[in-house]
Amino acid sequence: MNIGELFDATADAADAVPSLTIRRPDDWHIHLRDGGMLKAVLPFTAAQFARGIVMPNLVPPVTSVADATAYRERIMAARPDGSDFQPLMTCYLTDHTRPDEIERGFAERAWIAAKLYPAGATTNAHHGVTDLVALAPVLERMEKIGMPVLIHGESTDPSVDIFDREEVFMEKSLLPLLKRHQGLKAVIEHVTTSGTVDIVRAHAPRVAGTVTPHHLVINRTSIFQGGLRPHLYCLPVAKRESHRLALRKAVTSGESCFMIGTDTAPHVRGAKEAECCSAGIFGGVTALQTYVQVFDEEGALDRFEAFASLNGARFHGLEPNKGTLTLLKRPSSVLSAVPVDEKEVVVFRGGEVLPWSIGRVKA
Ligand code: DOR
Ligand code: ZN
Repeated sequence: MNIGELFDATADAADAVPSLTIRRPDDWHIHLRDGGMLKAVLPFTAAQFARGIVMPNLVPPVTSVADATAYRERIMAARPDGSDFQPLMTCYLTDHTRPDEIERGFAERAWIAAKLYPAGATTNAHHGVTDLVALAPVLERMEKIGMPVLIHGESTDPSVDIFDREEVFMEKSLLPLLKRHQGLKAVIEHVTTSGTVDIVRAHAPRVAGTVTPHHLVINRTSIFQGGLRPHLYCLPVAKRESHRLALRKAVTSGESCFMIGTDTAPHVRGAKEAECCSAGIFGGVTALQTYVQVFDEEGALDRFEAFASLNGARFHGLEPNKGTLTLLKRPSSVLSAVPVDEKEVVVFRGGEVLPWSIGRVKA
C-alpha cells in the first residue's frame, strides 16, 4: 500500500491530488442478477473489484453444480470488453441440499461457498432453510472439506421486531449452530449490530464478518429523513446510530476478521418505489468511494488495504490480487441511475459529489 501525493496521469500536474494505492480489492458479497440487469450492473462491480462472491438467489435459485456453472458462464459472457473480473460462485442451501452435491461442487471449483438464507428472510429466500438443526449433515460435510457457509443472519419469526431480527438470530440460531459445528468456517454477512461485531470477534479466525458501505453511512433514521426513502431500505435494515458507529470502529480497527461485502442488490426503480418496496440497495457504483471515505474520516487509511484486499482472500484461502487500484481524493459526481432495458436502477449516493474517486487500475 502506498499513501501519497500521486500525479494522476489523466489530469494536469497542477491537479495532483492525495491518493491511496492498494492491491486490487475483492467484493465478498454481490448480487449480479441475470439477463439485462446482469449486463447493466456488472461493469460497475468489475471496474472496482478483481473478484466477487456472487449470491445465488436467482429465480429459481442456484442449487446445483450445473446451475452454478451455467450462471458463471453467463456472467463471464456479460463482462465488459477487456475486463478480467472473476466471479466466485455460491450454492443456495435448501431443506433438500445433498452433502454429496455440495462436496462435488467445491471439489470441482464450481463454487467456493454455500449461502444460508433462513427461509423467507429476504429477497428470493423462500426456498431457504426452514430447520438449521436438520441441516447438520450438510454443515458437517462443509466442515470436513473446509467449505465456508455464508449466513444471512436474521430471525424469520414474524413476531420479532424487524430491528431485532439480527440480534435474535445470533442468540437463538447462530451461537448454537457455531457450537454444534465447532470447525465450520462461517461468514456473518452484512453485519449491522454491535452485538454481531462482538460475536464475529469472539469466533475469529474461523468466523469473519462482511460490512456493507451503506451500513457505514446510514442509520435507521436516514430511512425516514424527510419522508420514507425506499432506496435506503435493505435487509438487514439499518439500525440505530450507536450500531453504525460500532461498525465503523470494527472495520477500521485493523482486525482481520472484517472484510468488504457490498451486498450491492439492484432492483428496478418501480420495484423500490412501490406499495411494497423490495429490499436491496444498489451500492455497486459507489462502494469503494464510500468505504475509503469512511476510513479517511476515521483516520485509518493505513488500514484500508487489509479490509479491502487482504482479509477476505486470507479467509477464503486465496492469494491476494496481483495488481493495484488507486483511489484519488478528488471530488467526483456520481450518476444517479443506471439504465436497465427500458427501466433504471437508482444508484446509492447517486447524484452526490463524493470526496473520493476511483483512479487507475493496474492488472
Ligand atoms: O436488501 C437485501 N437485498 N438483502 C438481502 O439479503 C438480499 C438482497 C437482494 O437480493 O435484493
Ligand atoms: Zn445479499
